Amino acid sequence: MIVMNEAFDPAFGEAWTRAQCAGIMSLPGVWLTLASEGETPAGFSLARIVADEAELLLIGVRPGWRRRGIGRALLHATEIEAIARGAGKLHLEVRAENPAAALYVSAGFTPAGRRIGYYVGKDGQLFDAVTLSKSLDAI
Ligand SMILES: CC(C)(COP(=O)(O)OP(=O)(O)OC[C@H]1O[C@@H](n2cnc3c(N)ncnc32)[C@H](O)[C@@H]1OP(=O)(O)O)[C@@H](O)C(=O)NCCC(=O)NCCS
Repeated sequence: MIVMNEAFDPAFGEAWTRAQCAGIMSLPGVWLTLASEGETPAGFSLARIVADEAELLLIGVRPGWRRRGIGRALLHATEIEAIARGAGKLHLEVRAENPAAALYVSAGFTPAGRRIGYYVGKDGQLFDAVTLSKSLDAI
């Protein structure tokens, strides 16, 4: 939650509450990957697999740890774990205009769709989500 609270701007309604995290983490097929420096958490990814398709639910890196390759390493670790769990594809959703999209595109994800008004920001403003997918066959 330290990472969650620092990494996600409340303006965009992307962060999850502790209760939401606890709820999903008790479900089968869900896993958390934590990046840390010693005992200090720097970032995490949360993903799940259903049948042979995996979904990256959240990825975040604390502002002071960004642009050091932690986000890319978390994404790669998530892909490797998804393969180990039997996934052939990894899907994710990102807010349209989120600079994080550059990370996904450079990692080989391609756009698969758009959800209008998917995220609800703090002041009720709606933001579209772009769905991206990547085949894990070639990794
Ligand atoms: C997206 C996020 C996880 C990236 O973490 P990070 O540790 O900074 O990522 P990396 O250092 O591995 O960056 C890898 C590449 O992604 C791209 N990238 C990352 N952040 C970027 C930004 N703000 N603007 C443009 N490109 C960006 C760059 O190509 C970067 O490579 P470079 O630094 O060599 O140019 C981090 O910015 C974050 O937590 N954002 C807020 C939460 C969020 O929006 N998460 C995604 C939606 S769930």
